[in-house]
Amino acid sequence: MEHYLRAELSRRAVTQNLRVIRSRLPAGCRLCAVVKADAYGHGLSALLATIAAGADALAVATVPEALAIRQAGYEGPILATMAYGVSTGGEALDIAAEAMRCRIDITLAAAADVMPLAKLAGRLKARPDVHVKVDTGMGRSGVAPADAPELVAAVRSAAPLHLAGIYTHFAASDEFDKSHANQQFARFQRVLRKVQPLTGVLRHAANSAAVADMPHTALDMVRPGISIYGYPPSWELASPLPVRPILRLVAPIVQIKSLAAGSTCGYGSLSRITRDSRVGIVPGGYGDGISRQLAGRYAVGVNGKMAPVLGRISMDQIIVDLTDVAGAHVGQTAELISPDPAAPNSVANLARILGTIPYEVTCRLGRRVTYKVVSDFDLPAPPPANTTGSFASDTQRQTPTVNATEVPSPADAVHHEVVKA
Ligand SMILES: Cc1ncc(COP(=O)(O)O)c(C=O)c1O
Repeated sequence: MEHYLRAELSRRAVTQNLRVIRSRLPAGCRLCAVVKADAYGHGLSALLATIAAGADALAVATVPEALAIRQAGYEGPILATMAYGVSTGGEALDIAAEAMRCRIDITLAAAADVMPLAKLAGRLKARPDVHVKVDTGMGRSGVAPADAPELVAAVRSAAPLHLAGIYTHFAASDEFDKSHANQQFARFQRVLRKVQPLTGVLRHAANSAAVADMPHTALDMVRPGISIYGYPPSWELASPLPVRPILRLVAPIVQIKSLAAGSTCGYGSLSRITRDSRVGIVPGGYGDGISRQLAGRYAVGVNGKMAPVLGRISMDQIIVDLTDVAGAHVGQTAELISPDPAAPNSVANLARILGTIPYEVTCRLGRRVTYKVVSDFDLPAPPPANTTGSFASDTQRQTPTVNATEVPSPADAVHHEVVKA
């Protein structure tokens, strides 16, 4: 049975976004679509066929994620980017065994892991594809550039292992200032020169931001994620990809009622309405990924109008002010997330309001959401090629433009007031 909250996913938007990405790649460069965390919260099982049709390979973080994709019938290459320390044995070895049985490409980041992995492959009579991950400045997983040649040599001399790739990951390719990303790429190139020849070995580095702004980093394969789903990795790109959001989150209004002026709404009686009002109840709350931090700063689309959400966001439902929405009725669809990048309830604008990034907004979408692929959305106007706006990032950035649509703050709201902090 379907929960009332439904994520509509535009097949055409996914296909177009993949084409846009591919149009920025040199001839012969492979496109490895990053589909970890359930396609960044968009529901991978619904999207798998469409993404697979436009990509040459898929990447996820963990081996269990990769196994699920294999079990769903995908036959192409799948890279698990998490480097498990198989030298520790135990569960890490079990995971590696599963990866070999299902032909998942394994990431290695330490020379100590080579022999245990090779012995396991020998026992299983497997010849796993291995990618060496080099930490050129992300400071996360990966082998240090100075130790990379030793790791590559160890993989090459461990007969059952097949060196299929060597890669790195950028920490700041989405920033206006590309000096750190350039430095990382220079370090990676130095490693590549030291481990020649690399015939038949895939060299890869670029994420969405690098595909957009650093085309020289495309090498043999790129690994875009967020741009497939239609969101910019940041607002600081010089040549943003003209992609568009693939997601529309909707739910029906399940009840409409009248509340007298002076009534309060929701937990903590946070919001008091200042006029006689019609309110609608819409299923969808923080249990589904609609952040509680949006209280007083969130509106949903009903009948072509933005209807403010009143009071706190509950785990399962929101209270929507329908007083100014003519013709609103029970069963009517409320749009909780709009695929229009200029809408106040677009993923990018919600991210900006929450002080986070689009990645987190969509990854939060909960398990009660039903995912459904539709051919496309009926948008009021074509989305702008270069959407303006801003959202906060993990670091303090020099953000040039702040232009996203504001949802009225509680202080601006005319028809309800915040009675408690
Ligand atoms: C190793 C790796 N490659 C590629 C990506 C894709 O990055 P983006 O979604 O910014 O394109 C990620 C995402 O975090 C990643 O961890």
